[in-house]
Amino acid sequence: TRRRLSQFALAEEHQQIREVARSFAEERLFPVAASNDQLHKFPAEIVAELADQGFMGMCVSESHGGAGMDTLAYAIAMEEVSRGCASTGVIMSVNNSLYCAPVEKNASADLLNEFLAPFAMGEKLGCFGLSEPGNGSDAGAAATTARLDGDEWVLFGTKAWISNALEADAALVFATTDKSLGHKGISAFLVPTDTPGFSVGAPEDKLGIRACSTANLIMEDCRIPKNHMIGEQGEGFKIAMQTLDGGRIGVAAQALGIAQASLDVAAKYSAERQAFGKPIASLYAIQHKLSDMACRLESARLLTWKAASDKDAGLDFTKQAAMAKLTASEAATFCAHQAIQILGGMGFVTDMPAERYYRDARITEIYEGTSEIQHVVIANKLLQEYAR
Ligand code: CAA
Ligand code: FAD
Repeated sequence: TRRRLSQFALAEEHQQIREVARSFAEERLFPVAASNDQLHKFPAEIVAELADQGFMGMCVSESHGGAGMDTLAYAIAMEEVSRGCASTGVIMSVNNSLYCAPVEKNASADLLNEFLAPFAMGEKLGCFGLSEPGNGSDAGAAATTARLDGDEWVLFGTKAWISNALEADAALVFATTDKSLGHKGISAFLVPTDTPGFSVGAPEDKLGIRACSTANLIMEDCRIPKNHMIGEQGEGFKIAMQTLDGGRIGVAAQALGIAQASLDVAAKYSAERQAFGKPIASLYAIQHKLSDMACRLESARLLTWKAASDKDAGLDFTKQAAMAKLTASEAATFCAHQAIQILGGMGFVTDMPAERYYRDARITEIYEGTSEIQHVVIANKLLQEYAR
């Protein structure tokens, strides 16, 4: 018998996750996404409901309050939630992949009750502070400092553009203990947001994902206990990079949700809208756009599921995650752009959701590493493979 590729179809438990997340998005997110975007309103009730579904700590082990699911399940749920509301998607992804994942992997056992379980259960919210006003792509140039004073670390500096900043109960902050060591001087610290000396800047007024907060984290003589460093001293940059490898699968899935929502609205509208006596869906120009959107979306989804499966299989997935994030974010901006085109004037106004998809899609090419940085990561890995 000929060998075949194993089935591309999802296993039953993954199909179930998709059904649960899809129903949740249709019942709870679709009706409120536009108004939360318009009002810049953090969807607190919805986050609590996501927590009830186990979606705030999906891949955290059950013994630490998580849902104990795999990365593929997480990617599927992230796509469906983001299809309903991309702002809710980022709130969920930051807590899951940028906060809970590195804490579970690197924090000592004595910190987990306080800094993991309530976050994995969605009672508390986490954020991730890597970028600074002076360096985003060049994350190894962190200028926030940490100095040991007796039994305390003293943090000084500002983290920029931090998602969930206004609502977070704790921040994972990257700071240098010795700037002369470059990225090898960076360590990772858990900072409760009610620590004296810690404050949050004014919320950014953003193009998209407007229902989630983005703001500076400001630390001035911010003192935390010595045991709040996670991982070893000097390992912070590696922890950040490994965390972002996982996080990029979440952003890829968020982008898939936006791309799918764009295709959905465009396909439905094209079947209904009449021009020159027939539905615009019968025009080749429109069909070509729909077909192009579907191909890019499906390619990106396969890359994303492959990245998630590689991570679950314990393989090196750095390149795969970057490929998924790059391709899915570009698919999202492409599909949202085309959706507006297919809707014509209705694409340009807030009566229909296409303009929100267009605004929300744009961030997926910027955060967790710009598209240019994904190319750097992919090319580095690729060239290493050829050098072997
Ligand atoms: N896993 C483990 N280790 C890694 C790694 C990875 N994926 N990538 C790099 N490293 C290690 C390297 O092995 C190297 O280790 P040694 O010093 O021991 O040899 C070290 O890190 C430095 O590697 P590089 O020389 O490649 O590092 P660089 O300074 O050239 O930077 C970069 C590489 C890929 C450009 C990196 O800086 C980067 O990813 N920048 C983008 C930052 C980013 O994505 N920020 C996102 C912020 S979070 C966010 O945006 C949240 C949100 O959306 C909601
Ligand atoms: P820069 O690094 O200044 O880049 C500017 C331009 O130069 C880009 O086009 C970039 O691709 C290009 N460029 C830079 N270096 C290279 C290179 N080596 N090769 C080719 N091109 C290059 N950060 C966090 O830490 N936590 C968060 O929760 C978080 N959430 C965010 C939410 C929002 C809404 C936004 C806007 C940002 C968020 N960020 C967060 C920050 C985000 O990760 C950075 O904005 C991003 O990494 C880019 O950094 P930068 O803005 O400093 O751009």
